[in-house]
Amino acid sequence: MRFLMAVPLTVVLISGASSPADCAEARQAAATIDASKTGAPISKNIYGQFIEHLGRCIYGGTWAEMIEDRKFYYPVTGEAPAWGMYEPGMPSWEGEGHPYELLERSPWMIVGDNRAVAMVKKGAFVGEHSPEVTLPGENRSAGIMQERLGLDAEREYTGRLVLAGDPSAAPIRVSLVWGGGAGDRDTVVIDTLNEAFAKHQLRFCSSGTTDNGRIEIVGRGAGRFRIGTVSLMPADNVNGWRADTLALLKQLDSPVYRWPGGNFVSGYDWQDGVGDRDRRPPRKNPAWKGIEHNDVGIHEFMDLCREIGAEPYIAVNTGLGGAEAAAQQVEYVNGSDSSAMGRLRAKNGHSRPFGVKLWAVGNEMYGDWQLGHMPLEDYVKKHIQVVEAMRAVDSSIQPVAVGAAGDWSRTMLSHGASHMSLISEHIYWQDKDDLVEHVTQISDGIRRIAEAHRLYRKELPVLQNQDIRVALDEWNYWYGPFEFGELGVRYFMQDALGIAAGLHELFRNSDIYAMANYAQTVNVIGAIKTTKTRAEMETTGLVLALYRRRFGEIPISIEGDLAPLDVSAARAENGSRVTVAVVNPTEKRWAVSLTVKGAELAETTRQWVIAGPSRWAFNSPGRERSVDVRQTSRYGPIGSLDIEPLSVSLFSMDVR
Ligand code: AHR
Repeated sequence: MRFLMAVPLTVVLISGASSPADCAEARQAAATIDASKTGAPISKNIYGQFIEHLGRCIYGGTWAEMIEDRKFYYPVTGEAPAWGMYEPGMPSWEGEGHPYELLERSPWMIVGDNRAVAMVKKGAFVGEHSPEVTLPGENRSAGIMQERLGLDAEREYTGRLVLAGDPSAAPIRVSLVWGGGAGDRDTVVIDTLNEAFAKHQLRFCSSGTTDNGRIEIVGRGAGRFRIGTVSLMPADNVNGWRADTLALLKQLDSPVYRWPGGNFVSGYDWQDGVGDRDRRPPRKNPAWKGIEHNDVGIHEFMDLCREIGAEPYIAVNTGLGGAEAAAQQVEYVNGSDSSAMGRLRAKNGHSRPFGVKLWAVGNEMYGDWQLGHMPLEDYVKKHIQVVEAMRAVDSSIQPVAVGAAGDWSRTMLSHGASHMSLISEHIYWQDKDDLVEHVTQISDGIRRIAEAHRLYRKELPVLQNQDIRVALDEWNYWYGPFEFGELGVRYFMQDALGIAAGLHELFRNSDIYAMANYAQTVNVIGAIKTTKTRAEMETTGLVLALYRRRFGEIPISIEGDLAPLDVSAARAENGSRVTVAVVNPTEKRWAVSLTVKGAELAETTRQWVIAGPSRWAFNSPGRERSVDVRQTSRYGPIGSLDIEPLSVSLFSMDVR
């Protein structure tokens, strides 16, 4: 059943228009909703999210670690830290040439003579090498330091430092510095050093606010000391996750998170991300620009999901990885503690199986940008082999196959249908000059994918007894300069309108879409943006949070010649209320007369509006919001809906 049908326009007057001029100018439309004509329930997983090890999505956005390259992937040479320019190699990805904070060499600087620091391979604490400082003696200092830390006054920071060295090299002074004055620092003194690496706890309080705070690790004794690793986080971190970002994630309230990629997963070895966090190896991100610190792995992801009440959806590597590693991963996550991998998990602190059901089997394997990309015929076989190995470990998992509407999805479904619970699709859009087109391209794209899958359902014999729905597990706009690290594009009011229209299209095709994961959650094409010390909801995040919280679960029919508005309606699962949402991608006010059939509504309407002063309005972390959600209530028969220019409006009426 489709929920948008054409009927002639009806002219009505509205109450509540803000001024007579507005009223006179308001465009008119009419809609009829019928609560007795319902569609397939909207899966709550339509409000899914996706976090990838890329740019500042996890590290530098969601994970609370403040130290860059804390495990010394890059050698500390004394060369000044360098920040790169993004050159994506894909001309349509407009981040090209826009500078952003991308490390190209060590962010660590040397205190004292550059020759005081050498990178030592033998007995390195983690990774390839550890810095060793040779103290010059005569009470002169040497060590390392890192700048560009974001600090807030009266805020506490905790961490740890792993050190080894000659006893004579002690004491080592570790300082957090927020200014140029002698007193603008808090120092922890480590009095004893030994040949074996040992962990030392750090705790500081900053008395200043700065974007260029500094940590120094310095000795003045005699002999040598080595630095294994160092970590520093705001003391209010929650199991390592940033408290401010976490608060926004809770507002987003997404029921399901896809992790760890994306392109990243096709080169990821999940075993790098388990065990003692300080000993996990730092690596070059296999698909993107930065370093993979491996501080966030399966356990941390599961902690995050538990903290925000979301279901985990884990992607396995079918690019450079294969069936054996995927099966071991399933055993690690879901196996009993008597299995080999389950035992390892228990040793790493979690004896009970995590019980993850949703598994993405690979990512975008159709694309030549994907590590391990291969021809379709080969990949179908690989998919089947990987799923068989995963199911041999846990037959209850729900595998999600890589799809791409067209030949790829058709072939995967024809040959692999019995080896998948869902099939994935991805879609991104750039901006368009015409605002209505900018918005409708989203609904058009989502509808086209649904139509393709409706066709496969008709045509493919194998789908006659199997309901394989679509997981649109990456969807979003993606355009503009990278203001929040790699792929950190900003979103505007115009994008909020498009994302709302996208949700409406997902609702209209609720028989096809079982899941959709907005890509991505933080910084990287993200619904939330962060600076070093602040986090804020993007315009698009406001939309996702509002619909998740307020929109109904059962789509109901809506008729009317409503374009360019996009109107969607639903009732609550328990029938207690009806919600109507309207996207207005025009600079005109609209009056939509609403006729309601199939339900008797109470006379109170609650309304939430997301609107901005222009299509280019946006929010920034640490600044007052220029786009926000306003809530109002109105008494009296519903009659007519007053729709502001450039707005997303959601109306909720109780059913009598
Ligand atoms: O979301 C960013 C990237 O876009 C993902 O890593 C990849 O799957 C897609 O091409």
